[in-house]
Amino acid sequence: MYMKVFIETYGCQMNFADSDEMFLHLSARGAVRTDTLEDADAVLINTCTVRDHAEHRALSFLGRLMKWKRQNPSRIIIFTGCAAQRLGERLKKRYPFLNILCGAKDIEQFSQRLDQSGLFNAPGTPAPASSGLSAYATIMRGCDFACTYCIVPSVRGPVKCLPAQTILADVSAKAARGAKEITLLGQTVNAYRDGNVTFADLLNRVSDIPGVERVRFTSPHPIYFTPDFLNAVKHNPKIARHAHIPVQSGSSEVLKAMKRGYTRELFLEKIDALKACGFSVSTDIIVGFPTETEQDFEQTLSLVDRAGFMTAYCFKYSPRQGTPAAQMKLLSQNILEKRLAILLNKVRGLADASYQAQIGTVQEVLMETPHKGRSSSNYWVDFKESYPVGSVVKTTIEKAAGTLLYARETHGK
Ligand code: 5AD
Ligand code: SF4
Repeated sequence: MYMKVFIETYGCQMNFADSDEMFLHLSARGAVRTDTLEDADAVLINTCTVRDHAEHRALSFLGRLMKWKRQNPSRIIIFTGCAAQRLGERLKKRYPFLNILCGAKDIEQFSQRLDQSGLFNAPGTPAPASSGLSAYATIMRGCDFACTYCIVPSVRGPVKCLPAQTILADVSAKAARGAKEITLLGQTVNAYRDGNVTFADLLNRVSDIPGVERVRFTSPHPIYFTPDFLNAVKHNPKIARHAHIPVQSGSSEVLKAMKRGYTRELFLEKIDALKACGFSVSTDIIVGFPTETEQDFEQTLSLVDRAGFMTAYCFKYSPRQGTPAAQMKLLSQNILEKRLAILLNKVRGLADASYQAQIGTVQEVLMETPHKGRSSSNYWVDFKESYPVGSVVKTTIEKAAGTLLYARETHGK
């Protein structure tokens, strides 16, 4: 009998990719995945601590598992990722029923942790035969910035880039299993460097792997959108025309207090250069950073108007223990709530406007079903005609409705 594992992941795409990787280590020891907690013999909780809320959700799930474990004490609980890193051994005191703890910095030792636990001894099952159309490839971990609100550098540590050869082998294997779209992952993904190999070089080399039709990446830092990168984009249509670029604030004063390393003007310059290459851009924004005045907040609202984002994820500032900003005087929750509501109201209109702006543009679409695919610029496009799943179709966008674009009919194509 296989051991059944239920996996709960919180946080960013890197965490989802880490969960997949950890599952491979579990499956090599005889585990299969289940979507039903009641059926599971083991639970893997891969956690986030970027905001207090994310950590809280993971801990309350862990708390609820106490009953699950009491029903059958041989059940196994594995707690991993950023919250596991931040809270460390304290967790074992508070939740003595925890079996395996593995913080984000130790994720590469996950396999050893499983062996040390002695809980996973069954013979392995083969690695998955197919990757699906889209696959992730982690290319770097950690962050060398020191944004004053951010806990990531302390829980994930400094940047460690994977050797280019390792990444290319990983992508080749995924492409051989059927992946057409590869998303390169890293905390500051475009800061990637391995000897002479720059991020732009890596994008080109990954695109050259047989079977790879499209390369995405997340999350980049604005300052690493260099001329070298733009040059690669101009010559390589496989580089997706979409980037999620966290801006955090539209005020240069706040950006300085956050130690983001760019001004409002520089950010807009970078965005403009990308948009000139056909990019759509989404972003993250924090409201209520301790030094944020009404005028600063107005600057964020005006940046949203000016930048033409396709979407923006908005967060209330959340103080994180040990970060410089956590020493500063907090704004009232009332102000945070009010600013978030105003920003969300503005952001709600973005999607519509950006979908409408696609009408008349030519898009390359990677078909995910016979009638639907995702454009290079990351919009869903619907076709009347059908195409093979995995093929890339070039089309003109005829109309937009809701969160869907419609392709012009190309009879007889
Ligand atoms: N408070 C609120 N939001 C935060 N983020 C990171 N740290 C904090 C914090 N302390 C947001 C940023 C980042 C996203 C992943 O989470 O917008 O881009
Ligand atoms: Fe955090 Fe800034 Fe690093 Fe992003 S760049 S992970 S916000 S410290």
